[in-house]
Amino acid sequence: MNTIIGIAGSLRKASYNAALLRAAAELAPPSCRIDVASIRGIPLYDGDIEAAEGVPPAVTELKGRIASADGLLLVTPEYNNSIPGVFKNAIDWLSRPPDDIDQVFGNRPIGIMGATPGMGGTRLSQTAWLPVVRALGMSPWFGETLFLSNASQVFDRTGVLVDEKVKRLLAAYMNGFAAFIKSTTRSNRSPSGRRDPSSTSLHTS
Ligand code: FNR
Repeated sequence: MNTIIGIAGSLRKASYNAALLRAAAELAPPSCRIDVASIRGIPLYDGDIEAAEGVPPAVTELKGRIASADGLLLVTPEYNNSIPGVFKNAIDWLSRPPDDIDQVFGNRPIGIMGATPGMGGTRLSQTAWLPVVRALGMSPWFGETLFLSNASQVFDRTGVLVDEKVKRLLAAYMNGFAAFIKSTTRSNRSPSGRRDPSSTSLHTS
């Protein structure tokens, strides 16, 4: 059985993205287990705190959960046509120290989806994640896309997904992502060969 850890990038109690993650967990194929995580408890990244105290416990705990999962699902809101700061902040902490990046993120299959009450469906936010996915040496799955727009109309007041069409699309996404993970099980995965994202670039003129 493969495990997918899903992280919703909103702190809001009534978050559509957290609701989407819960629905994804329910509609995932029985062959995989979904570990539903959140970014709650992760402080703002501060290099001085890291130097003095190391990585905060909430970050260490989540790093361990990601490292022991077979795939990572980011369920992202969109703020000002990009990644919400709180979510990026969490991933930034999770990428510390750089020596751990390969173990936590390297070649790990990643899927991205998101929900918004507006029309855009988080297209721009999901696209904005791609350089981060590359920097961390992850293995993105592009087999399906899920840009959930008009989110207020597809969940009930308790945050349960009630729209049958969205349920079908979400189930198809989770089936495809689970199959991708299975096809790249960790034993088949080679080290990502990623370099520290802060390492020097090669400039040609
Ligand atoms: C938003 N929202 C938003 N929506 C969108 O589709 N495109 C955008 O660029 C933005 N920009 C934006 C900026 C800021 C600062 C906020 C607070 C909100 C609306 C956003 O999609 C909405 O608040 C969602 O409900 C956020 O996701 P959760 O918290 O429901 O998961």
